[in-house]
Amino acid sequence: MAAYDFDTVIDRRQVPTSKWDRYPEDVLPMWVADMDFSVAEPIAAALRDRLEHPVFGYGGPGPASLRDLIAEDMRDLYGWTISPADVVFLPGVVPGFNQALKAIAQPGDSLVIETPVYPPILAAAGHWDLNRVDVPVLPVAEGSAVDVDRLTGALAGAAAFLLCNPHNPTGRVRTRTELEAVAEASLSSGAVIISDEIHCDIVYGGARHIPVAALSPEVARRTITLMAASKTYNIAGLKTAYAIIPDADLRRRFVAANLGMSEGANVLGLVATEAALRHGRPWKQALLSYLEANRDHLVARLARELPGIRLNSPEATYLAWLDCSALELGDAYRFFLDKAKVAFNPGPSFGGDDHHVRLNFGCPRTLLDEGIDRMVKALSQR
Ligand SMILES: Cc1ncc(COP(=O)(O)O)c(C=O)c1O
Repeated sequence: MAAYDFDTVIDRRQVPTSKWDRYPEDVLPMWVADMDFSVAEPIAAALRDRLEHPVFGYGGPGPASLRDLIAEDMRDLYGWTISPADVVFLPGVVPGFNQALKAIAQPGDSLVIETPVYPPILAAAGHWDLNRVDVPVLPVAEGSAVDVDRLTGALAGAAAFLLCNPHNPTGRVRTRTELEAVAEASLSSGAVIISDEIHCDIVYGGARHIPVAALSPEVARRTITLMAASKTYNIAGLKTAYAIIPDADLRRRFVAANLGMSEGANVLGLVATEAALRHGRPWKQALLSYLEANRDHLVARLARELPGIRLNSPEATYLAWLDCSALELGDAYRFFLDKAKVAFNPGPSFGGDDHHVRLNFGCPRTLLDEGIDRMVKALSQR
């Protein structure tokens, strides 16, 4: 067996899960963004160790050792200097960007987002009575992921820009030039940048993640960065994330906007996060190799066997945004669910059209092949 096993198919129906419980047993779930891999051993070991201590009371503001580790990671990975005190632990990135919006925007203010996008980002403006301004993310063929002029126009007078980088569902990674343009447009309009960087670790060859706040201290002062170990290490159910907010006043406003709704993080999630960041890198490297091979396999099989489906090979994330418009399936999500017994995420839930679906390839290769086989068969029987 390889040092790390990503090939074994684990029966996740033995425990409650969002992914495997939603659909009947004959449906293969390739939707919600978690992976079908077991957790890295150093994380499991740290959790077992913590369980030896019999008390699970409130965890306080989060361990100093983890704050220090996050600060070290930002310096080592991105050359970004932060203070451990800049870190605010949270039960999730979604609560984090909603809390950020409460802190910085008033009802009626404008919030700029880039569509199609992760559904809770699409929904966030509605929670706070904000005016949502959508700017399209451009496909790889366009070169740049962002039409800077259009984004700059949208940001004029906006209170906030909710950036998703790397981008879910397109898997695009912003280049430094693009981020500089985005940051300049935000700074000149006075918009605060809320940067959802939850997929920052899952970036493939060639591309490199740059936190927008790492561009300059000036940008960092106007940015709330949201990160977590949850996507990379497949521990989303442990409900732990963190905001990095270097500006003390912005941080104070962010914390005050919690309003008793989502304070603090899960004590086991904090343990898992620390183990992941401290000991998980070899596992992560192996995971990235496996996922990158899955991505290439998916892209190659679709090009060969289902050329009517177009996709831009994702530079990041284990998500692929499939354009099925040439196949004229009508509602592509429905077609694949009913005829292929494969569950994707429907395009409209991201603000896209119903010719698009999002496929999750964070699974053993055999499951990925099973999903593609089912698609090929259903399409051949049309
Ligand atoms: C872009 C993005 N942000 C946030 C989340 C979820 O964050 P959390 O579970 O920490 O609230 C996801 C999950 O898929 C995501 O893709």
